[in-house]
Amino acid sequence: MTTPRTIGVALLGLGNVGGGVVKLLADNAAAIEARLGARLEVRAIGVRDRDKKQRVVEVDHDLLVTDLDAAIKRDDIEIVCELIGGVTEARHAVMTAIAAGKQVVTANKALLAIHGTEIFAAAEAAGVDVYYEAAVCGGVPIIRVLREGLASDRVEAFWGIVNGTSNYILSTMTETRRPFADILADAQALGYAEADPALDIGGGDAAHKLCVLVRLCFGTALDVTEIPTDGIDRIEPIDLDYAAKFGFVVKPLVIARAHPDGQIEARVHPALVPANWLLADVAGAKNAVYVQSYALGPSLYYGAGAGMLPTAMSVVSDCIDIGRNIFARAAGAKRPAGPVLEPRPMLPLAEVRSKYYLRFGVVDAPGVLGRLMTILGAHSVSIAQVVQDAEAKPVSVVVVTHEAREGDVRAALTEIDALPVVREPARVIRIVG
Ligand SMILES: NC(=O)c1ccc[n+]([C@@H]2O[C@H](COP(=O)([O-])OP(=O)(O)OC[C@H]3O[C@@H](n4cnc5c(N)ncnc54)[C@H](OP(=O)(O)O)[C@@H]3O)[C@@H](O)[C@H]2O)c1
Repeated sequence: MTTPRTIGVALLGLGNVGGGVVKLLADNAAAIEARLGARLEVRAIGVRDRDKKQRVVEVDHDLLVTDLDAAIKRDDIEIVCELIGGVTEARHAVMTAIAAGKQVVTANKALLAIHGTEIFAAAEAAGVDVYYEAAVCGGVPIIRVLREGLASDRVEAFWGIVNGTSNYILSTMTETRRPFADILADAQALGYAEADPALDIGGGDAAHKLCVLVRLCFGTALDVTEIPTDGIDRIEPIDLDYAAKFGFVVKPLVIARAHPDGQIEARVHPALVPANWLLADVAGAKNAVYVQSYALGPSLYYGAGAGMLPTAMSVVSDCIDIGRNIFARAAGAKRPAGPVLEPRPMLPLAEVRSKYYLRFGVVDAPGVLGRLMTILGAHSVSIAQVVQDAEAKPVSVVVVTHEAREGDVRAALTEIDALPVVREPARVIRIVG
């Protein structure tokens, strides 16, 4: 019997994802070894505190290290998995690994959105791989689909539900009509939402993932700070009621489209989507990406966007791919050149065209509805449906528009919000799908 080949792995981080990787490597050891033709062996685990009492999984205490640089540079480490999160220390770890000629796996979307260009350029120059399946949609293999499955196709647009916490909160609000803050508190108690949920509910996490997907789909690096990003925190149960009356549900979306003139449209916001649209059924903490591509047409990718084992599965599958690359290169295969990125302008938000849901809180007086409609019409915003709810306090006027230019809608709303008969700023939710 021959001794199986082994590939040395350093895990940086032993939290939910790192712990999941240790568990999956143990639980699926035989299948992984059979598929790779080698054993993935964890030889060092970087943590902040070696003596932390409660760990997600039990590991040999001797594997735990706090000097990440030393672990990364060890001769018996070939793959470094960055699973510590954050940006500054994660960037240092990944750049150190690349400089040391190690292959890299990361689950860190914030890192890739902010420093992706630097990291991929360094990896290209060093001739190493950086894999990142877990960084978007956790266990859903959307990166592999875009990089390999659709390699001969051309993505035209995609719509995604990529933040499980936001989707959980909106889905629960839809089911129960309880207020946002109550559901967020429950989600935190249940461990679905971070103690500081700002990145999740504010849309920042989704914007990071959108950047990663846009780079793959459209070959350009967006500045994440320039992506129009709205969180879900301004959605109220009453909006879900009106949405349902019009045949919609509210979903937290990322949207990107390559326009024929080269501009990239990219945005993050909750949207009304038709109740019979595919993404309308993506509920709870689940994730999905709906891709429109030239040759395949529409296709949908759905599953667990977070969680210990789903995310670890993506990390370990990346390690298997990288292991295969290591063997192929040892046998003389050349590393394929990475994609060349091109700068592409972003479509200004004012030029985005969409249908809109608008809710106005106004005084109960004759002529108010007509005033609102006149101002919208004067700004080329034409109305598809109107509902007036005189029981609401203040009186609600809810409008669904035909497709309009965002800049025109905003100009109309500025004028309307300044009217003395208006009691609260207009609520605006784009309609998609
Ligand atoms: N959780 C998910 O479902 C999920 C899904 C997709 C992607 N991700 C991404 O995966 C990454 C890890 O997430 P996670 O949920 O596993 O995080 P986590 O549970 O907070 O674990 C982080 C781990 O990293 C260690 N660590 C953090 N900073 C460190 C430093 N400077 N030096 C050494 N060790 C350090 C911590 O050490 P101690 O244990 O000693 O504190 C801990 O073991 C993040 O980028 C996250 O965005 C997570």
